[in-house]
Amino acid sequence: MRKVPSTLSPVIAVDRKAAKPLHKQIYDAYRDKIVGRNLDAGQQIPSSRALAVELGISRIPVLTAYAQLLAEGYFETRTGAGTFVCSSLPDQFTSSERNSIRSADICSGARPVARRALLLPRYERLPWFRGLGAFSVSQPAFDQFPFQTWSRIVARHSRNPHASELHYGGPLGSEQLREAICTYLRTARAVRCDSSQVMIVTGSQQALEITTRVLLDTRSPAWVEEPGYWLTRQVLTAASCRLVPIPVDKEGLDVADGIKRCRKAKAAFVAPSHQYPLGATMSASRRLQLLDWAQSSGSWIIEDDYDSEYRFGSMPIASLQGLDHNSCVIYIGTFSKTLFPSLRIGYVVIPKDLVDRFVAVRHAMDIGPPHFFQTVLTDFMNEGHFARHIRRMRLLYAQRRTALVDSLKKEFGSALGILGAEAGMHLVVTLPRGLRDQQVAEHAAREKLWLWPLSPAYLGNRPRQGFILGFGSTPAAAMPQAVRHLRNLLGPQGRL
Ligand SMILES: Cc1ncc(COP(=O)(O)O)c(C=O)c1O
Repeated sequence: MRKVPSTLSPVIAVDRKAAKPLHKQIYDAYRDKIVGRNLDAGQQIPSSRALAVELGISRIPVLTAYAQLLAEGYFETRTGAGTFVCSSLPDQFTSSERNSIRSADICSGARPVARRALLLPRYERLPWFRGLGAFSVSQPAFDQFPFQTWSRIVARHSRNPHASELHYGGPLGSEQLREAICTYLRTARAVRCDSSQVMIVTGSQQALEITTRVLLDTRSPAWVEEPGYWLTRQVLTAASCRLVPIPVDKEGLDVADGIKRCRKAKAAFVAPSHQYPLGATMSASRRLQLLDWAQSSGSWIIEDDYDSEYRFGSMPIASLQGLDHNSCVIYIGTFSKTLFPSLRIGYVVIPKDLVDRFVAVRHAMDIGPPHFFQTVLTDFMNEGHFARHIRRMRLLYAQRRTALVDSLKKEFGSALGILGAEAGMHLVVTLPRGLRDQQVAEHAAREKLWLWPLSPAYLGNRPRQGFILGFGSTPAAAMPQAVRHLRNLLGPQGRL
């Protein structure tokens, strides 16, 4: 059988009725695409035969156009390999057209877009997000992931997919995965649910987005933790909600303070098992107070249970949702910490009467979650690999956490405060007066030390200065060296 050429054909429209001859139409189309940089230097172009077939015309005008483009230096041929866009188009060849494209780019910032598209600041990859390694937050121990097992399941499912796995799925996601998640949540997180309430989403982020669209209107007031998770704030800001920052202390969100500031808030966004970033666990009395408030004011609680699997000194804390007898908690979880973030799989447990609204909003958003990794994850959970991995990681992260705390104490004594080291994959250190966390973090990133500054986690104008230090990705044996690096970085500035 003849090998099917893998070259992509550019979009070229020819009009047989036009006065312009076909070969000229083809020539002009290629020239415009090369000059406009839609085709790259060195990119292969389809053979004259393939293009003629695709355009439904005879090969003669195509050959004429190709000959002209070759003669003018837009194309080059390589013996035995085919025809290519010339790999060395001189700059002046394209400069006038390029300038007009550049000026269009520059102008694009000034062109009108919807007001809601301007509600968020420009996306920027901040220096401390640019690398992986010591202290990077949200980075699990990738090298400890059971890839052999995972790839075996991946291979099993890629071989003979059923037609139903390739077609559109439902907006809630795979029934089998929802069952597996329910079993896990009921057992390990004391969540009350059945699979009809579980929606598979592309990470907690999509869960926050759908929840906000379903529950909140423009200018709806919503409590957020201060300091808190910046991506929750971004979702609420993009939805034009009114953010009401409520301070957290060592018992979690200060509910009484919230009631004082805005009793009629429509929702409270909280991470009661492990507050982000300071790490407090919400006390039992605060949990009951929060549920009372939600019930009496007809408000919603959105529980972000992002990393509660990892708790070191005690058993994992049961979910807030499990204490709720009035169905006012929307529970959100993710596999980003337990497996890996690029999987982009999370879940929402929805009160039964809201499922219909969540489904409608989700369907309009992206129809449903991608199917393939849902099937892989279902087997991974049902065959016991998920539970086994969590158990292993809990021990591993406990060692890494202890190594980090010990090294911090050794290198800094009491100069740095340590907060929230009892759970999760990060802790917080607070800096002495005079140090600016963002400044230090920028400097550290140049040395490939990924310190997340604490101050951007605050909405108000009196942020604490410190760092959120991830310990998931650094082996215990490597921790002293990483902390010495931090010590050297802060030390030469003469501030500690
Ligand atoms: C507070 C909090 N919630 C949720 C997540 C996970 O988000 P996602 O599931 O979108 O990866 C993170 C990740 O760092 C987090 O810090």
